[in-house]
Amino acid sequence: MAENNTDTKSSNQMWGGRFASGPDAIMEEINASIGFDKKLFAQDIRGSIAHATMLAHQGIISAEDKDKIVHGLNTILSEIESGNFEFSRQLEDIHMNVEARLATLIGPAAGRLHTARSRNDQVALDFRLWVKEELQKTEQMLTGLIAAFLDRAEEHAESVMPGFTHLQTAQPVTFGHHCMAYVEMFGRDRSRVRHAIEHLDESPIGAAALAGTGYPIDRHMTAKALGFREPTRNSIDTVSDRDFAIEFLSIAAIAGMHLSRLAEEIVIWSTPQFGFVRLSDAFSTGSSIMPQKKNPDAAELVRAKTGRINGSLVALLTIMKGLPLAYSKDMQEDKEQVFDAAESLELAIAAMTGMVRDMTVNTARMKAAAGSGYSTATDLADWLVREAGLPFRDAHHVTGRAVALAESKGCDLAELPLSDLQAIHPDITDKVYDVLTVEASVASRKSFGGTAPSEVRRQIAFWRARN
Ligand code: ARG
Repeated sequence: MAENNTDTKSSNQMWGGRFASGPDAIMEEINASIGFDKKLFAQDIRGSIAHATMLAHQGIISAEDKDKIVHGLNTILSEIESGNFEFSRQLEDIHMNVEARLATLIGPAAGRLHTARSRNDQVALDFRLWVKEELQKTEQMLTGLIAAFLDRAEEHAESVMPGFTHLQTAQPVTFGHHCMAYVEMFGRDRSRVRHAIEHLDESPIGAAALAGTGYPIDRHMTAKALGFREPTRNSIDTVSDRDFAIEFLSIAAIAGMHLSRLAEEIVIWSTPQFGFVRLSDAFSTGSSIMPQKKNPDAAELVRAKTGRINGSLVALLTIMKGLPLAYSKDMQEDKEQVFDAAESLELAIAAMTGMVRDMTVNTARMKAAAGSGYSTATDLADWLVREAGLPFRDAHHVTGRAVALAESKGCDLAELPLSDLQAIHPDITDKVYDVLTVEASVASRKSFGGTAPSEVRRQIAFWRARN
């Protein structure tokens, strides 16, 4: 709630000309965004320096005023960075906090900075710059996660594990191949990030309130100074667009969904029942009551962060839905969603990269599990097609009978005596035992993108070169 009720009644210094009294305390509270948009201070100051420099270059303000403005803005930047800046809620947002301080520092020249601009294009600029930097950071973090998986894949290109469908043992695969599945997923996330950077790489500043401006500004100059490819082309769209934020959140939601699947697998794999991996002490926690426990809390929290990120995406889509063009104050609610999702995503990627690098893989447990559950049944069927000339459907039927027999005897397929197999189909010879091992099964799956170690190594080489 508002801390003080008296000060707020004074008229606003930015638009006081039109107002006889200041806002109600509740008005101030609902209106202020400084509590969260102060995060945009560096972008705000960068944008203002580029704007003032352009105004002077175009002869709209004097070089002298521009110098004062730039000097003052740099002073404010160091004040904020060193924690010596007092943010005021009465000044509503980062833009007005900076401008008011500038007036205190340099006097009347500060009043010229807001020529040919509005907070509408200013906030669009600051937020775009912030999201662009966050996307660049996300790209790097995903590259780190991909690298961690490539290293584990290389190490385990030959380690056999059960592949699952419906979380039921399906066919043997290699752990390296499974790791490479995540490389593909996070690789797609990374290319979505790259596309999003291209999409948002247009400078909004100079759209002004919504209609552009009568001052002879140079929007190409500010675009270039701020590292954008070009200026946006429609001033109305520019101040009403938040697609760049929604794209960030969509990408975060998809990446978060991928991370949650990995998190779930780590939770399952690290149970004593599976025992496929052991998490390092650095990435697990103990129990305050059960001394034997080692819990995958980080993986569980990564799984949960996905919920927050999805919430942010739905929130911003809902905030923007049905808004008339151009700017509406609803749009101020965009930032917290993006900030929160960005923090969650960064943490989730960092935690996963650490876990993947640190976890110990129990190849013996994986191999033992790979051989159970009749995982090489498809190999037997394929052998019958290849060596005995059976149509696949018939081979499937014959194999089904062999599985049923093994099940009734409580043994593996490879443990059935040849006489049993021949009783099911006379063309089966002892050569069949060559394909019933899990190693033979994975080695045979050399189709492009398949699980054979040779193929996994080819995919690793592809991704190493791709980075
Ligand atoms: N704090 C505002 C926001 O985040 C800045 C833009 C305000 N513009 C306005 N016309 N009230 O959206």
